Amino acid sequence: MNFKTVAYKGSKRKLLKDIQELVEEIEVDTFLDGFSGSGIVSAHFRNEGYEVFANDKMPSCNLYSKVFLNGYNKQNVENHIKHINKLKGTKGWFTVNYSGEVKRKIKGINKIESRPLGFIKKNAMKIDAAREYAETIKDSKDKDAVVFSIVLAMNKVFNNSNDQKSCFKEWMDKSKKDIIFEEPTYVTGKQGQVFSGDVLSISRKNYDFVYLDPPYTNGVLYDSCYHLNDSLVLWNQPVLDKTYAIPRPTRVTFRKNKTTAGKFYSRVTAEKDFKNLINYFDAKRIVLSYSDAPRNILKKEDLINICKKAGDLKLIERKHKICTQSKKQKKISNELKEFFFIIDKK
Ligand SMILES: C[S@@+](CC[C@H](N)C(=O)[O-])C[C@H]1O[C@@H](n2cnc3c(N)ncnc32)[C@H](O)[C@@H]1O
Repeated sequence: MNFKTVAYKGSKRKLLKDIQELVEEIEVDTFLDGFSGSGIVSAHFRNEGYEVFANDKMPSCNLYSKVFLNGYNKQNVENHIKHINKLKGTKGWFTVNYSGEVKRKIKGINKIESRPLGFIKKNAMKIDAAREYAETIKDSKDKDAVVFSIVLAMNKVFNNSNDQKSCFKEWMDKSKKDIIFEEPTYVTGKQGQVFSGDVLSISRKNYDFVYLDPPYTNGVLYDSCYHLNDSLVLWNQPVLDKTYAIPRPTRVTFRKNKTTAGKFYSRVTAEKDFKNLINYFDAKRIVLSYSDAPRNILKKEDLINICKKAGDLKLIERKHKICTQSKKQKKISNELKEFFFIIDKK
């Protein structure tokens, strides 16, 4: 099934079959997706008939999983989406902060130039109108599905391809197109459950299969990379720091706030964090995804040592392209090795 979801750094869209093989090797009913991100893994396994539990610490990721795992009223959502496509745009928080161009000093060339802020005004106004309308939807599942639709459409017309930290200096064709809201992918199967927060605070610990796909590097802080998705979901008009190419909510300006993005992002605590993670759940099988990118926070050898203490360890590797950058951009890495650390309880 081709699940519509956000483009996401580290998305496992292309590795779903590989993960499924690992699930099918043992008897599995309950599946935990501990770092659900784009929600693609959760969506896939619900669709395959499993009882899926999903967790992530980002509110936007929680919303994708809720839509995939809990569903919504299809007819109502189709009607809402028809309606938001017809709405006249309004100038609200999103338009004021993220549309048109702004003059700013460009580092490197040290000149003041006009640069896109992310969206053409017409599209930003449609996003404002649609998101305000979503606030009026009483049923929370239907509302989540409509907000997901707005996030997906917003991503399609955003003037960058990789993350929400910067923006192309010229307007790309895709950003000049009219925004169109579409229904998210409707997944059926057993009802799932969504937890939101730090993986090490999930209250239920026993599952047949636990899939863990944590951040790999402090070079990719997900909260900063996808702050627009979170802001659209939270819709609480956060205070913005406008010194960034794309204004960022102060909640994600970690370096300036002298904070870290949390567990798994800090070199100082990484070893302890991964140890706690591997030992936290009571599962027949735990599978940890990790890659061999040069800036990764832990070495493969360190992880092997941690994992083999927790059960019988098998390590397999797959070639995987993780970059979502456009062809025009310089890629840090084309092909990466993706490792699956498979830990079976002794
Ligand atoms: C590699 S991505 C997961 C990608 C996902 N498997 C997919 O296919 O889209 C890592 C995710 O971990 C989340 N995350 C980071 N720290 C976390 C923590 N302490 N607890 C729960 N989730 C966390 C991030 O928000 C991000 O969505």
